[in-house]
This record gives sequence, C-alpha cells and structure tokens, in this order.
Amino acid sequence: MTEIARGLEGVNVTTTKLCRIDGQKGELVYAGYNIYDLAENSTFEEVAFLLWNQRLPNAAELAELTGKLHAERELDDLVDRVLHEIWNDVRPMRTLEVAVELLGAQDRKSSDLSNAQLKQTAARLTAKMATVIAAYHRLRSGHEPVAPRDDLTHAANFLYMLTGEEPTDLAKRVFDVALILHAEHEMNASTFSAMVTASTLSDMYSATASAIGTLKGPLHGGANEAVYKTLEAIKTEDNVKPYVDDLVARGERVMGIGHRIYKTTDPRAVILEQLGHEVAKTSPDRWYFDLSLKLRDYLAEKLEGKPLYPNVDFFSASVYRMLGIPSDLYTPIFALARITGWTAHLLEQYADNRLVRPNAVYEGAENKKYVPVDRR
Ligand code: ACO
Repeated sequence: MTEIARGLEGVNVTTTKLCRIDGQKGELVYAGYNIYDLAENSTFEEVAFLLWNQRLPNAAELAELTGKLHAERELDDLVDRVLHEIWNDVRPMRTLEVAVELLGAQDRKSSDLSNAQLKQTAARLTAKMATVIAAYHRLRSGHEPVAPRDDLTHAANFLYMLTGEEPTDLAKRVFDVALILHAEHEMNASTFSAMVTASTLSDMYSATASAIGTLKGPLHGGANEAVYKTLEAIKTEDNVKPYVDDLVARGERVMGIGHRIYKTTDPRAVILEQLGHEVAKTSPDRWYFDLSLKLRDYLAEKLEGKPLYPNVDFFSASVYRMLGIPSDLYTPIFALARITGWTAHLLEQYADNRLVRPNAVYEGAENKKYVPVDRR
C-alpha cells in the first residue's frame, strides 16, 4: 500500500537558513541565535533584519531599516477607504487578508521578484499591516485612525496607534518580545501556504494573503483567541478541573496545548510566562494570567504521560489581555510578527524556486459511463 504522510508529518519540503527547532529539547533558533538570547537582548526590528539577511544588522543598517519601516507606516488611500467601508462587516483577519491584496494591487512593482524589490515589499508589508490592524480597530471603536509616530519602535507604535496613548515602558518591551517570539517558526502551516503560492511565481502579496488565511484557523494562529475564550468560559479557578475533565471526556482539544514539533514545553511559552509574571504585578486583569497558570498545572496532571504541553498561544492570550488588547486582535498580531518570517522564507523560495505540486492517491470509482441528466 502507498504510504501517505498525513498532514505531511515528518516530510522535509525544503532547506532553510532561517530557523531550527529541536522539538525534544524545546530549542528554537533563528539563523543561529537562540530565542532566549534574542528575547533578552534584541528588538523586533533587529530580528526582522536577521531573518531577511541571516545576520544581525550593524548600527547603520538598523537605522536604514528603521527608516524604511517608518516611510511605509502611513495607510494609503485605497486601503483607508476600504477600511472605512468594511470595518463593521468584516472580522480582523479577513480585513488583513483583503488589505494585503489591495496593497499588492497598488504596487506597480508587485511582480518584480528580484531580491532587492522583494526585501522592499517585505518591509512595506511589515510596516503597513500593523497600521491596517490599528486603523481597523480605531474605526470599529468609533474613532478615526491614529497617525503613526516615527519616534516609536514598531511594537510601541502599534500599541500607540491602537489607543492614541503612548504605552508604558513595560508594555513596549513585553510587546516587542512577543513580536520577536512570533516572528519565525520554520515550516509551519502558514509559512508552507505562502511557499506553495510563491512557488507558482505568484507575488509576495498573494503569498502573504494565503498565509494569513492559513494562520487564521484555530489549530494554528487562531489558537490564541481560542485560549482567551477558554479562560472566559472557565471563569473561576474552581472551575478549571470540571471544565477540563468535561472537555477531555468529550474528546475535545484544549486550545494552546500540543504541537506538531514540540514534545516538551515550547520555549516561547516559557518566555511568555516569565513576561506574564512581570505584567501581572501591576495589571487589573491579572486573573486571566492566574487562571492560565492553574489551567496549565491541572492539564499537566490530567494529560500526564502524553506529549502535550503549552505552546506559544497558551500564555500570549493572558499577556495580551493584561496589555489591554482586544481578544480578536491576538491572531492578527501573530500575523504582524510572522510577516517577517513568511517573507524571509519567500526570499529563499523565489531565489531557488520549484513548483510545489505533490500527489494524491486516487481511491475513487473507475470506468463509469456518462448518463445525461434527464436519465439520472
Ligand atoms: N488537547 C487534547 N488532546 C490533544 C491536543 C489538545 N490540544 N492536541 C493533540 N492532542 C492529542 C490528539 O487527540 C491525539 O491523541 P490520540 O493519538 O489519542 O488520538 C494526539 O494528541 C496527537 O494529535 P494530532 O492531532 O495528531 O497532533 P498534530 O501534530 O496533528 O496536531 C496541533 C498539532 C494541531 C497543534 C494539536 O496539538 C492541537 O489541536 N492543539 C490545539 C490547538 C493549538 O493550540 N494550536 C496552536 C499550535 S501552535 C501554532 O500553530 C502557533
């Protein structure tokens, strides 16, 4: 019988210089740098450069990239007009998908697949996607979008554009680290989706839109919002045990737990938990985090012996909640960070492209004869 790699588990589809994961040890490395080192010492802008160039920038290169991102922060007219039309009817992830395609429609160089132009597009998407989500949120909250500020980092500027208020130093740093943690993750489902689209030599905008659509699902990036809903449904610490027992008895999945690659705790969850402890000290919403800790502990007891541990989405829900971010923006925020990893993989793909076209084993009927519709 022909072997089928269900879910493509264990299949190597390409080589990459961007990311290495050791799922047994819980190790995550971006272009040679351990995620703990980057989370402790780096910035999202530096990590974007690292992914696009496989080395950290010097001061001049970092200033150049920062300038490029600033120059691309403004919303263009078409996206602005469409956002004003759709904010009431369209959810944030689909809004992002539409906006990315509109940005592509406006870019006369979208079909230029040279490395230099692709890097320009990657910076454009990184800067503009953040503005799109912030503007969308302002409009649905009954306010006009807040203009971006060039004196703020990418992370701080996004939080500023959401509320019109400059975030605290702690919020700036925590959000910056959250972006770093979500920036890249080897050949995950959304990155693969972007790669498949690019392999037809479709442009970077459409490949990104494919990735956004894939990230949206609750088995992937949509899990962070689903974790939030789980916390809301559990409500109290006393309810953790009955809630989980019932869920497991019904054979349902606990969101934010489990991973195709990690068979131990995802290092990103470890870092987010550390950040959570810091943010909780002053947050009026700390019960989301406290409840997450209780949930994590009870799951460890309940699922003992199974390789199911918190993934990146588990603590991002409560950390974002404590930063005051609305829950339906958690997955878009994932996209705002992962755009750097997606586009970095696209640079690799376009530089050495081959159409992605696997097979399916046919199991359907044979030798049927067509019968006209009036005789069926
Ligand atoms: N809760 C309960 N049981 C689980 C969970 C979970 N979250 N995840 C996996 N399992 C169980 C499965 O039921 C299955 O059990 P069985 O062998 O007894 O049938 C076993 O673990 C293996 O599950 P698979 O679905 O084969 O594992 P896969 O690698 O395909 O799935 C996935 C990985 C989708 C992440 C899964 O763990 C899951 O659904 N988790 C919840 C959703 C989630 O948090 N997604 C975010 C992942 S991180 C990210 O994408 C950014």
